[in-house]
Amino acid sequence: MKIDIRAEQAQDIPAVYSLHAAAFGQENEGKLVDLLRESEHYIPALSLVAVLDDTIIGHILFTKLKIVTQSGREVETLALAPVSVTPDLQYAGVGGQLVRRGLEVAAELGYGSVIVLGHPQYYPKFGFAPASRWGITTSYEVPDEVFMAMELRPGALQDAAGRVVYPKEFEQV
Ligand SMILES: CC(C)(COP(=O)(O)OP(=O)(O)OC[C@H]1O[C@@H](n2cnc3c(N)ncnc32)[C@H](O)[C@@H]1OP(=O)(O)O)[C@@H](O)C(=O)NCCC(=O)NCCS
Repeated sequence: MKIDIRAEQAQDIPAVYSLHAAAFGQENEGKLVDLLRESEHYIPALSLVAVLDDTIIGHILFTKLKIVTQSGREVETLALAPVSVTPDLQYAGVGGQLVRRGLEVAAELGYGSVIVLGHPQYYPKFGFAPASRWGITTSYEVPDEVFMAMELRPGALQDAAGRVVYPKEFEQV
């Protein structure tokens, strides 16, 4: 399957919304993308679509996120959320290509790390590990293994022990 991965464009917006609704079986993730796109946390180069024969079959978004350390310092990181692949094309590697390309672009843009709340069987293959390894916590009450982080630059999370502050948009959906 020859897919193209590129930055989202304005005309992709309705298809991206429908894709998330179909993949997650609910509207929350599409609404989250719409809210984040309008926010200060949005990075156009890190909203990527997977395209097959002119149809959008996958989308991934990385937005700006802060870790507030125990000493009150702010460490800039990225939130990977959401990612989805159209239901009838899942398990064919598209999600993996989106994650890998997103991590590459993020590193090229100079970001040092990424945080994800997600399936603990899926993300470790890309290099994610429980964020607790770096002493990073979240206000969400989730099992340790689903809240993960990854360094794009070695040592980027070395002194980042603290709490992730999710943008308010995450609470609005
Ligand atoms: C999760 C998702 C983005 C993965 O994309 P994909 O193209 O199907 O995945 P890939 O083909 O790249 O990878 C397949 C691997 O993912 C695993 N996987 C796929 N969906 C999964 C899920 N919902 N939970 C756990 N693992 C999953 C498969 O077991 C497979 O593992 P393997 O490589 O060890 O066999 C896609 O299945 C999806 O859109 N799911 C619904 C929305 C969702 O849950 N998004 C992620 C939120 S964290």
